[in-house]
Amino acid sequence: MSNGFDLLNRAFTFYCPTRIVFGIGSLSRLPDELKKFNFKKALLVSGPRVSKTKEYALVKECVSCACAELSEFTMVEAEPDMSILNSLAGFVRKSQPEIVVGIGGGSSMDFSKLASALSVNEKDPASYFGGEKITKKGPPIITIPTLAGTGSEVTPISVVVDNGVKRALFNHALYPALAVVDPRLSCSASPDATASAGIDALCHALESMMSVDSNPISDSLSSKALGLACAYLERAYCNGGDLEARAGLSAASLLAGIAFQATGLCLPHGIAYTYATKCSLPHGSSVSLAAPYVAIFNAPAIPGKTRLIASAMGIDTCGASPIEAGFEIASRMFEIMDTLGLPQTLEDLGINESELESMVDDLLANHYRFVEKNPRKPSRDELLDLYMDMHEGL
Ligand SMILES: [Fe+2]
Repeated sequence: MSNGFDLLNRAFTFYCPTRIVFGIGSLSRLPDELKKFNFKKALLVSGPRVSKTKEYALVKECVSCACAELSEFTMVEAEPDMSILNSLAGFVRKSQPEIVVGIGGGSSMDFSKLASALSVNEKDPASYFGGEKITKKGPPIITIPTLAGTGSEVTPISVVVDNGVKRALFNHALYPALAVVDPRLSCSASPDATASAGIDALCHALESMMSVDSNPISDSLSSKALGLACAYLERAYCNGGDLEARAGLSAASLLAGIAFQATGLCLPHGIAYTYATKCSLPHGSSVSLAAPYVAIFNAPAIPGKTRLIASAMGIDTCGASPIEAGFEIASRMFEIMDTLGLPQTLEDLGINESELESMVDDLLANHYRFVEKNPRKPSRDELLDLYMDMHEGL
């Protein structure tokens, strides 16, 4: 167990069917990649900002050259809600695309997957987030990220905000057939967007390693992702034109995405869901606030894994106890968050101590799937202590 995985008593499966084209300039391969698909009607899914960029124009030109009919859905805002999803469903059920290309950040890619599924599954879109089965696989999905972080380019997951609550849909029908990851496309992302998305990738890697369902394949991917994120996130934030840093961060997002779609995520994501929407905090910033505290909380339950995480982050834990190693991990994370200007306590968000109990209840009632994946199962009192630490800081 010292290597972080019980080789004698655990079996696991690993599946990731997405073809990946990665590298600076890889968008130039899109025309050849499109020839592998048989389609006449294509749909581009994006947001209002990205749809005005030259990168979008380039993708549009490639796709329109490869088909007879091109339609566009460019209404995917950050943190999209059910009204946008309903509009998308109406759009695709009428236009019936034969391929869907999502270009943008996590939400645009998430919605490109939903566009595919909803074009052939005709029940109320909200019902699929409430347990209704997706019975038919839709047209192929191509993802082209313009921001490194969510890993959505390779996951079978889509998230929507429903009455202020984030709901996630996991389904094999949502796996992209192809991801074209050209780090050059992320160079125009603002420092704040780079920070929030990039720290999300770092947290995906950390949580995938801590997850009770981690395995040797996912650990290989997420420890590499963790190292890349620690090496390149601050550089990409400080100098958006640093292509090596952009490529490192894009690789971190991709590798962490492949890892966590297999293992699931644990406590930091669940905790973040209890205040992100209320505080209008970008997804990554809300998760990173919780992650250092959870790393310390989990350390005694996963001593071997904690050392592996520290080592992947470039931290020497020789002679340190598991708790000390947990503090070292937290300290490195706070250092990165300092550079990126990210909030480090719930007090920084203006949250009152009196609100913490209701957040714990929200976590246990609505986001328990993240608690289940956590290697140390917290009692309600322990969660309240954790939230108190997050409120006051270390
Ligand atoms: Fe995330």
